[in-house]
Amino acid sequence: MFHDISVDMLECMRDLERRDGIDRVDGTARLDRLRQIPAETGRFLALLAASAPEGTFIEIGTSGGYSALWLSLACRATGRTLTTFEVLPEKAVLARDTFLRADVNDLVRLVEGDFFDHVDELDRVAFCFLDAEKEIYGACYDVVVPLLVPGGMLIADNAINHEETLRPMLQTAFEDERVDTLVVPIGKGELVCRRKA
Ligand SMILES: C[S@@+](CC[C@H](N)C(=O)[O-])C[C@H]1O[C@@H](n2cnc3c(N)ncnc32)[C@H](O)[C@@H]1O
Repeated sequence: MFHDISVDMLECMRDLERRDGIDRVDGTARLDRLRQIPAETGRFLALLAASAPEGTFIEIGTSGGYSALWLSLACRATGRTLTTFEVLPEKAVLARDTFLRADVNDLVRLVEGDFFDHVDELDRVAFCFLDAEKEIYGACYDVVVPLLVPGGMLIADNAINHEETLRPMLQTAFEDERVDTLVVPIGKGELVCRRKA
């Protein structure tokens, strides 16, 4: 997966990394900030996704498409596709451009709109990456976990840097007997929940 990333995709990744870096130095709370995962988290997600069972791959919170590019590597390696949801039109425009430039339109389907308006279309989720506003993590957890196939995984970003805000959801995840749960100290902290058989 990581040894044969195309030149076009690498260029897209570098551009988004540069832009995200500038956003972070700037520090103002602009709505169009990318707020994307670091590269090591992208690698971690791709490795986990590549070992997910049969079923649907989804992402809640596309932004500029950076994490989706990493997940597309797992899709290419395993013959899957990713459906990624983005509610902000400006971000959707950027993500569409990212997917076109990186030539992953056969692997990534962008749905512009609120994730919760599309829940009825979901079934048999094998892998979900949750990276949206922290206030909706609990509701996303409640929707996604029942849809996970055995061995399916829900990964949520920000489990360490937003631990306090996410505490109720983290507590639910650790007490939930449907899943095996761990927080991995990589990037901003990844909550990993794997649905039991
Ligand atoms: C932290 S950013 C995602 C970063 C992206 N995963 C990456 O690493 O490249 C969160 C994104 O979630 C989007 N979002 C928030 N609530 C949403 C919802 N209910 N449905 C779809 N997207 C949502 C925001 O507009 C924002 O672009």
